[in-house]
Amino acid sequence: MNRKIIKNGTIVSDNKIFKSDIEIKNEKIVAINKNIKLDAEIFDASNMFVFPGGIDVHVHFQLPFCGTVSKDDFENGSKAAACGGVTFFIDFAIQKKGSSLIEAFQTRRKQADGKVAIDYSLHCGITDWNEKTRKQMNQLIKNEGVSSFKVFMIYRREGWIADDKILYDLLTQTTKNGSIIMLHAESDLLLDYFIEKYKTPLNMKKYGAYLHTLTRPCITEYEAIQRATTLAKETKGRLYVVHISSKEGGEIIANARKQKLNVWGETCPHYLLLNDNVFKRKDGHLFATCPQIKKKHDNDGLWQSLSKGYLNVVSTDTCTFDRQQKALWKGDFTKIPFGLPGVETLIPLLFSYGVKRKRFSVTKFVELISTNPAKLFGVYPKKGCLKVNSDADILVYDPTPKRKINYKDLQTNCDFSPFQGFEVEGLARYVFSRGNLVAKDGKFVGNIGWGRFVKRKPFGKI
Ligand code: URP
Ligand code: ZN
Ligand code: ZN
Repeated sequence: MNRKIIKNGTIVSDNKIFKSDIEIKNEKIVAINKNIKLDAEIFDASNMFVFPGGIDVHVHFQLPFCGTVSKDDFENGSKAAACGGVTFFIDFAIQKKGSSLIEAFQTRRKQADGKVAIDYSLHCGITDWNEKTRKQMNQLIKNEGVSSFKVFMIYRREGWIADDKILYDLLTQTTKNGSIIMLHAESDLLLDYFIEKYKTPLNMKKYGAYLHTLTRPCITEYEAIQRATTLAKETKGRLYVVHISSKEGGEIIANARKQKLNVWGETCPHYLLLNDNVFKRKDGHLFATCPQIKKKHDNDGLWQSLSKGYLNVVSTDTCTFDRQQKALWKGDFTKIPFGLPGVETLIPLLFSYGVKRKRFSVTKFVELISTNPAKLFGVYPKKGCLKVNSDADILVYDPTPKRKINYKDLQTNCDFSPFQGFEVEGLARYVFSRGNLVAKDGKFVGNIGWGRFVKRKPFGKI
């Protein structure tokens, strides 16, 4: 049936909470009213929340990285997203050195189109900044709806690293072309320094994966965030710092927000809920990601930054490597494939440990996982809210069931979860992607190929 009604739910959208029905027709929300009476397929949302679908702006499906390829591909990754209540994701098309940005974009489109279960878009990763790339950047904005570009301050080995002058130039570009720079902020020089200091055969034997912690103290991150923020201030460029892991990093963004700079930041569930103790475990290498998981006081500081509204988005940086792939490290912490699964557990974790633990309200929660990412990355109000004419990307979330996260129950292609055994409250009861039911009770019921590439607008303020 083409017409659907979600009945009696508690709608949370655009800072408001109210009881209403939602009517869906031809992929769109067509009415939001009490007591809609029509011949339609009915979805009962009594005692449940109705949220705009989750938006994860930071995933890496089938990414060639650290000598292997991340295990959740576009097909399974997008299914996993749907099962967890995420209805739109943005992955990355990373330029190869000496090659074109547009080629990277087209290659990634070919990998994803026809394989995704929900809508998606791409950020382009700039690794070779020159006159040609500058032109391609502008073409991508105008013709392809790519309005965000990723820059890495590390990853020399991968050939992805950019220096301060490139970052300065790119931030300046954003003031002219309406785009935003997403930045992986860690100091390459400090990282080299600490690795040189700690990487000895004796230490490797003694500390194993804990060397990941010793070689990435918070300063490796916050020095880079501070430097980039200074460049954003000077150029007036738009900067979005990804996967912030340190308390100090969050505070630098808070300061920038207070000064009304064009600087925003995201963090991820693993930086909120896990600490360096994980690296002391026998299987501690499984938790290696970049930047690495920090300490308990960083968890607390990041929650504070979220509660106060200084960090704007929670994404996942999903980059799944299973046990076999993680085993490539063979005792050398610099060789662990860096990355964690996460897109499927984002919403239950943030709802349980954010809303239920009273760290922030349910309206703030919706801002963090849907509205702010939609606004910052140019898809609002098509997505990121529940309004007439918006895409019917809807999550009906039942807040009552309690369960423990178990990787065996999840759709992800991973044979562990970093959050194994975590108690969560609530379940994605119904997930709609443009009006099509794609997940029910946390299980996939949609179709591969349903998802479409979405062209995005240049930057919109939050
Ligand atoms: O370790 C991670 N996060 N892997 C993916 C690449 C990145 O830095 O985002
Ligand atoms: Zn990164
Ligand atoms: Zn990433």
